[in-house]
Amino acid sequence: MARLDLAVPGAVIDLGCGPGNLTKKLKRRWPDRAVTGFDSSPEMLAKARASAGDITWTQGDISAWLPAERFALVFANAALHWVPDHVGVFPRLMHALGPGGLLAAQMPMTGEALYHECVRRVLALPRWRTRLDGVRSHDHPLKAAAYYDLIAPLAAEVDIWEANYHHVLADKFAVTAWVAGAALVPYLTVLNDAEKQDFLADYTDIAGTAYPPRPDGRVLFQMRRIFMVAKRS
Ligand SMILES: C[S@@+](CC[C@H](N)C(=O)[O-])C[C@H]1O[C@@H](n2cnc3c(N)ncnc32)[C@H](O)[C@@H]1O
Repeated sequence: MARLDLAVPGAVIDLGCGPGNLTKKLKRRWPDRAVTGFDSSPEMLAKARASAGDITWTQGDISAWLPAERFALVFANAALHWVPDHVGVFPRLMHALGPGGLLAAQMPMTGEALYHECVRRVLALPRWRTRLDGVRSHDHPLKAAAYYDLIAPLAAEVDIWEANYHHVLADKFAVTAWVAGAALVPYLTVLNDAEKQDFLADYTDIAGTAYPPRPDGRVLFQMRRIFMVAKRS
């Protein structure tokens, strides 16, 4: 958000806004603009609505999002990796901007993440291979050059960067807790409570090897993220 220099008038939309934490920050940053939080999850939107004023909350699927109006800012933090077909989606997001408008997106680079390798390993265990056959998580984000190629034909400027975070977590259980709220969600959703416990215990065993404790007992959890800001031509 700090990198955004919004020079044209118009509305702001936060795609995949979740409980609205960043949507509220967007409104604080640009109080005179109409701001919309957009998410597919009624539960997330209920949380968002409970605490925010003067923001429009809309339920919908980013995959099917074809707005009639043109926005000054289309913002999407940690959401677009849940949306398939980036080759189709990213040009559509650029088309939702008026001239000079900004697309600002951030996604975890899940394809190369160690915690995803742990997901692959737990899914390869015989019990889960059978039980979770056919259940899929999201596609992994593309490489920076691929996003550049999708965005650049519609952009006056493109700025892409990556940051590798080394989060200090208490232990392997904290790794599992993090991943349980992210990459494991599609699998946990189809398991009953007893199965969930077993699945998470198996994940924790695998994570314990992949993320060995540092001398102080904590673990370093790497998360590489790609950021992009594109100005519509
Ligand atoms: C990790 S949360 C990010 C929330 C918020 N952007 C933030 O940074 O705090 C991802 C959000 O994307 C939403 N989401 C996932 N797929 C979506 C889709 N196809 N259309 C709309 N929202 C989606 C989820 O419901 C969830 O609230």
